[in-house]
Amino acid sequence: MNIVRNSPYRQGRRYRELVKIHGSPLLVLNPLKVLSQYQELRQALPGVAFYYAVKSLPFPGILRSLADMGCNFDLASAGEIRLIQDLQIPARRTIHTHPIKHDDEIRAALRYGCTTFVVDNSDELLKFRPYRHRVGLLLRLGFRSPAAVVDLSKKFGCSVNEATALLSLGAKLGIHVKGLCFHVGSQCRDAGRQVEAIDACHTLIRQHHDTAATPISILDIGGGFPIAYDGKAMDIGTYCAPIRNALAGLPSYVNVIAEPGRFIAGPSMTGIASVIGKAHREGLNWYYLDDGVYGSFSGQIYDHVRYPLEVFADAPQRFPSALAGPTCDSIDIIAEQVDLPELQIGDLVVGHMMGAYTAASASDFNLLKKAKIVLLHGGAARPMPSRPHHREKRH
Ligand SMILES: Cc1ncc(COP(=O)(O)O)c(C=O)c1O
Repeated sequence: MNIVRNSPYRQGRRYRELVKIHGSPLLVLNPLKVLSQYQELRQALPGVAFYYAVKSLPFPGILRSLADMGCNFDLASAGEIRLIQDLQIPARRTIHTHPIKHDDEIRAALRYGCTTFVVDNSDELLKFRPYRHRVGLLLRLGFRSPAAVVDLSKKFGCSVNEATALLSLGAKLGIHVKGLCFHVGSQCRDAGRQVEAIDACHTLIRQHHDTAATPISILDIGGGFPIAYDGKAMDIGTYCAPIRNALAGLPSYVNVIAEPGRFIAGPSMTGIASVIGKAHREGLNWYYLDDGVYGSFSGQIYDHVRYPLEVFADAPQRFPSALAGPTCDSIDIIAEQVDLPELQIGDLVVGHMMGAYTAASASDFNLLKKAKIVLLHGGAARPMPSRPHHREKRH
């Protein structure tokens, strides 16, 4: 269920001004928030090298700023590689973390110069035989996570026993398996899952050290760091305290890296949609918006997230209501059975914390236009350049 805040009408003025200038629907990106989230996570996990998961919000403006702050990048496709390459970010600052890849993908990454890849089974390991002198692999372990909103170990990751066998196979094939990785699931609210995964990897690293010629020198603790969609205060430093403790016990030859997406991108973007139609049906006031689950609210389907919403009206009375998207499909409902004041056509509905897995997975189903992304810059907002600047200059 989305949390919906009813704010006084005057508090919506800033959003109304943005819509007047840029149209509706909008996604307003605050790059400073991206950078402050990155800084917070760095402080919460000192000594960890971060690789921003580009998939969560793949926009050049924020990638450039993160790169300038020293952040590295987690890539999962040739498209993401092109984006980073266009920004002239050196390949040594990237890792390719998709556990399953076509050979074309591997070659695209190698052409760029990215040489760290992830595997979680023997078929995938064998794909690297032709490139064994050029790559270093991370072995992905799976740790199921009921505490995560998106359990990423259902689809990827091997068991600890399988990992031991894969490490031996890598050594036999002459392929350098240099590290272990895991992802305890996105929006994971229980740091205990990360601690268990770190501890299991720690044991494997020590066992491997006693028997193998080359030690495991990288532990990639993935992403999953949560943000407060439910409005409850959440301090990432406190959340990460048990993780810091678990990492402190690792042997000194192990470098720790992480691939956060949501924590960095999530709080940076605000969605603004307009009421374009109304109806009263089966006891509910229905409001039809110009953005919905096929657009910026796609994360409510794919990512199982409910964004905190805000409407602006001075009338004190509330009515059971529904907020629906603009497509002809009836799955396109953002919130049902929420108490709202009576809204009028043209009123705005604002979605907060809509940076991660929103614009990235929006479609133009029904050939409806996607939300325009505008960038907050020195108090003003300007349209987001869709390609990196150096490209645009050539035209
Ligand atoms: C391999 C990998 N790394 C990192 C991430 C980012 O995770 P999060 O956004 O939960 O931090 C994902 C998310 O799907 C992923 O699949």
